[in-house]
This record gives sequence, structure tokens and C-alpha cells, in this order.
Amino acid sequence: MRNPRALASAWLPLIAVAQNSTIDLSWHPPSKTWINDLGQALNSTGTHGFYFNGSALPPNSSYGTYNWCNMPHVRREEYPEASEEYALEYVEVVHRHHKRTPYASNTFPKETYRWDCNDEGLFYYGQPLNPSGNTSASAYWSVFTSDTNPFAPSGFNGTCQFPQITREGLDDSWQHGKDLFGVYHDLLGFLPNEIGDKVTYRVTNNVITSQVAGILINGMYSPKTPTPLRIQPTGIDSLEPQYPCPAASSLYSSYGVSSTAANWTKHLNEARPLYNSLDAISGVASDSTDWHKSFDHYYDNLSARQCHAKSLPCSINDASKCVTQEQADTVYRLGQYEYSFIYRDSPQSLQAAVGSFGVFIAELAQNIRDLVSGKSPVIYRHNVAHDGSISRLLSILQVDVMVWVGMGSEVVFEVYSKGGYGKNKYIRILWGGQVLESSNPTLGKVDMLDLDVFLSYLDGLVGSNASKVVEYCKS
Ligand SMILES: *[C@@H]1O[C@H](CO)[C@@H](O)[C@H](O)[C@H]1NC(C)=O
Ligand SMILES: *[C@@H]1O[C@H](CO)[C@@H](O)[C@H](O)[C@H]1NC(C)=O
Ligand SMILES: *[C@@H]1O[C@H](CO)[C@@H](O)[C@H](O)[C@H]1NC(C)=O
Ligand SMILES: *[C@@H]1O[C@H](CO)[C@@H](O)[C@H](O)[C@H]1NC(C)=O
Ligand SMILES: *[C@@H]1O[C@H](CO)[C@@H](O)[C@H](O)[C@H]1NC(C)=O
Ligand SMILES: *[C@@H]1O[C@H](CO)[C@@H](O)[C@H](O)[C@H]1NC(C)=O
Ligand SMILES: *[C@@H]1O[C@H](CO)[C@@H](O)[C@H](O)[C@H]1NC(C)=O
Ligand SMILES: *[C@@H]1O[C@H](CO)[C@@H](O)[C@H](O)[C@H]1NC(C)=O
Ligand SMILES: *[C@@H]1O[C@H](CO)[C@@H](O)[C@H](O)[C@H]1NC(C)=O
Repeated sequence: MRNPRALASAWLPLIAVAQNSTIDLSWHPPSKTWINDLGQALNSTGTHGFYFNGSALPPNSSYGTYNWCNMPHVRREEYPEASEEYALEYVEVVHRHHKRTPYASNTFPKETYRWDCNDEGLFYYGQPLNPSGNTSASAYWSVFTSDTNPFAPSGFNGTCQFPQITREGLDDSWQHGKDLFGVYHDLLGFLPNEIGDKVTYRVTNNVITSQVAGILINGMYSPKTPTPLRIQPTGIDSLEPQYPCPAASSLYSSYGVSSTAANWTKHLNEARPLYNSLDAISGVASDSTDWHKSFDHYYDNLSARQCHAKSLPCSINDASKCVTQEQADTVYRLGQYEYSFIYRDSPQSLQAAVGSFGVFIAELAQNIRDLVSGKSPVIYRHNVAHDGSISRLLSILQVDVMVWVGMGSEVVFEVYSKGGYGKNKYIRILWGGQVLESSNPTLGKVDMLDLDVFLSYLDGLVGSNASKVVEYCKS
């Protein structure tokens, strides 16, 4: 059912732009697939062709396939080249960091094995930028515990910070950079040979995005001099996103995680037997709210192991009781269902995403305008972010089929001109390396959409300089 008028909520008017096209700012539901069909998420088997067991796909699977451990991105082999009349003018990439250990909060109370990271160092130090100043040693973190420290870590023993990008995740990051460079530099000749003032990188306040950025930049440029990673101050970061928006947080919890809405709790209730068997193995208390308000923790816990070819966990008390692949697959299906519910199926999802990620959207619109007006020399912006960033971005773009965005998930905005510089401008959006399809009729298949229409869609939702976001967040 796609009736824009019927679904438009009161706070989202239709607005008109100069080109006499009507901009539809209302929410439109995603397509019906197994992902947002509770019966199939709960009661089917397998993972419907989605992969969860390593960065490399099995032979003969096609590259665009969903792979939680290493999602598809722009690369030369599959890149849909625009027709010759279009000239590329600006690219902005937003992607999730690559694969990592689980977060400490997603580890079982007691783990049955160690997880070590001494095949990599986390380099963390300050160094004067003045070239004639004192310099720093290339010092890195080496995680240890001691027999004297009576507080044993919860979850895994070992030499990782939980979370940290793993050695394989670093290699995936390098490849991601190399693949993007293969298209935007080697194939299209769009990127300059040096980073200079045309290329910038941005990270969030979570260190794992910096871990990805450093090696990704070497996959692209191997620069001989230090490269700045742009970052906003703690607490107001729009990319993570971190700025406070109480209205959006309470809207999310009114219909999704933590809500008592019947259509949210239904899958949790029906999955009670699954929870009981997982809890019996993990040692998670049956009344633990964190583990039972969504499948997030079990999903992260199980998938992080499988992405690193580690076995599914067994009970600490009874080594014969282990999580089965069937149970893990059900957790993965339910994780997809939850992400689709939270970020797309719920009619409130658009407003919640606009509130919590709208500042980044306003920045994106401004970045494009600054390039078009000649105010900024930057032709390529690269943002390393999180699933919470990419999910909200896809929520705002109203992607037609939502998934839980896996490791390295990527959205690319490409701005083109036709008929010479300064002439008509167009936008194309790539999701997983292919043209993004939106359920919103104004966006549709975002393949050379009039740039003014796109900017009007963004402005209409977030206001100029995010004015509507500020207003909403306070409400
Ligand atoms: C704007 O579009 C409407 C509907 O397509 C059309 O009826 C109208 O004539 C157009 N106006 C102009 C000024 O082009
Ligand atoms: C899943 O299967 C169980 C057992 O057959 C059934 O009771 C339940 O209604 C099914 N759930 C959905 C959402 O179809
Ligand atoms: C990975 O998962 C796929 C699909 O579930 C399966 O066919 C394949 O055998 C698995 N590979 C490994 C190494 O477990
Ligand atoms: C992979 O595809 C090739 C060519 O289509 C085929 O010959 C081969 O048997 C396939 N291998 C597997 C493991 O399916
Ligand atoms: C999974 O949960 C178990 C039990 O809490 C925990 O020990 C383990 O560290 C977790 N693993 C991951 C990868 O999160
Ligand atoms: C983790 O370390 C603690 C304290 O040293 C030890 O008691 C426990 O057996 C270790 N667990 C594993 C899985 O190695
Ligand atoms: C290094 O630091 C010392 C102590 O502050 C200072 O005296 C010296 O000038 C610095 N060296 C350079 C090259 O800046
Ligand atoms: C959940 O139920 C509410 C209240 O009935 C409804 O407005 C909303 O559309 C439902 N959400 C989904 C994703 O079906
Ligand atoms: C946003 O604010 C800045 C500074 O006040 C201003 O220069 C810019 O024009 C504004 N952008 C828009 C789209 O209104």
C-alpha cells in the first residue's frame, strides 16, 4: 500500500520548489520482504542468502550479496558508470567501520575462551604538528591484565579492547579504501593524486572509526605526511550521532526498543523459548533487561565470533551445550526484522531519524552547496561512522528494503553536472555500490535526480542549518 496522502502525517507538509515539482516529505513504508515479515523472521530457517561467517564470500556468490562481516561497497568491478554527458563534481561517502570484537556490553558474563589482539597495535599519542618541534615515538596500546589486579575483566580474557577493529577488520578497511580509489581516481580520474585541500576524512568520537580511517587512507593515498581526521567535539558530534535530542530518543523508545507497544513486544514474546535456551548457555540472567529488550546483544555476540571464524559459544558449566547454527540464524533474522521495524516500518521512524541525525543531513546539504557555489574546494568527503549513523541515513532516504547495516556498509552521494560546469546539477546515491531505491516517490530510484529537488527534500525535513531539528529536539 503506497498512498502518500493517506500516510502523510500532520507535521510533514508537501512543499513546492522552483522546478514546479512537488516534494513529498512524508514517510512511505518499505517493500514487503521476508525481513519485515514476522512469521518468516521467527519461523523460517537459514538466513535467506545473507552471509555472517567471514569477510570473504564463498566462491560463486555475487559481490552485492549481503555480508554482515564485510558489506558490499563501490568498487571497479561492479561500478555503474554514469553516461558520458554527466560530469562528476562532488562525492561524499558515509560508511560503517569494519569488523571488530564485540562491545564489552555484548559479551557473556563469562566467556569460554580468550580473544587476543596482539597482532596489531592501537596507536594513540599526541604529537606537535610544527615540523621543527619535538616529535613522538610511534607508541601503541598493549592491553594486559595482572594477577595482582583482583578485578578480572567480564566477558573475554585476552589482549583486546572491547570493542576494537580486529586485524582482519583493518585489512577490510584497507581494501575498502583501495576499491574506492580504484573507481574515483583510477577509473574516473576524479580524485587528485594527492590529498591536498580537495579531500577530507571525518571520524566520530568512538576510537574504532579512527582505527579504520588510518589504514583506509593508506589504501587510497599512502600519504607521506600526517593526515587530519576531522572530528567534532564530544557530546555534539553529528556523525556518531551524539548531540542531544531527547525528543527523538523518547520517540524511538515509544515504539521500538524498550517500548511496550504490542507490535514491538510481539517478536520478543514469541522468541521467549529461544531466549531461554540462549540464556541457559550464556549465563545471562533471564531478567536481564539489556539482553531481552532486543536481539542486539546476542546478535553482536554471535556474529562477531562467526565473522572471525570462531566457534559458537558453549555453556561455561556444560561444554556439551552450545548455541546451534539454527539458533544463531534465527537471531540474525530477528536482528534484520528489528532494524527494519525501528528504522523503516514504523511510521514514526522518519521523524525519529530526522531528529537524531538531521544535523548531519544539514551539513551534507551545506557541503554540496559550498562546492556548487565555489565556496569550498573540497570535492571528496569521507565519513567513517556507525550502524546508528547509516541506519538513520537510510531511514531519512527511506530505503526500500532495510537491513541491519553490516560492517563497512556504505552510502555514497555523487553530484553531477550536465551541459558544462555551472549547468544543471544532478544527484545519484549508491547503497552497497548500486543505485539506491527509495520508497518515497520524490526520491524513487536516486539516479540523476535534480539536485534542487534533493536539497529541497533535505531542507524540508531538517530546515536550513538544521533549524527544524533544533526546534524538534527541544520539544
Ligand atoms: C506545474 O505543474 C502542474 C501539475 O503538473 C501543472 O498543471 C502546471 O501547469 C505547472 N505550472 C507551471 C508554471 O509549469
Ligand atoms: C511461529 O510459529 C509458532 C509455532 O508454530 C506459531 O505459534 C506462531 O504463531 C508463529 N509466529 C508467527 C509470527 O507466525
Ligand atoms: C558460511 O555460510 C554459508 C551460508 O550459510 C554456508 O553455505 C557456508 O558453508 C558457510 N561457510 C563456513 C566456512 O562456515
Ligand atoms: C562456480 O561456477 C563455475 C562456473 O559457473 C562452475 O563451473 C563451478 O562448478 C561453480 N562452483 C561451485 C562450488 O558452485
Ligand atoms: C558473547 O557473550 C558472552 C557471554 O556474555 C561473552 O562472554 C562474550 O564475550 C560475548 N562475545 C562477544 C563476541 O560479544
Ligand atoms: C580469565 O581470567 C580469569 C582470571 O585470571 C581466570 O579465572 C579465568 O579462568 C580466565 N578465563 C578464561 C576463559 O581463560
Ligand atoms: C622540546 O621541548 C623542550 C622542553 O620544552 C624545549 O626546550 C625544546 O625547544 C623543544 N624542542 C623543539 C625542537 O621544539
Ligand atoms: C505499531 O502499532 C502502532 C499502533 O497501532 C501503529 O501506529 C504502527 O504503525 C505499528 N508499527 C508497525 C511497524 O507496524
Ligand atoms: C547557515 O548559517 C550560516 C551562518 O549563519 C549562513 O551563512 C548560511 O547561509 C546558512 N545556510 C542556510 C542554508 O541557510
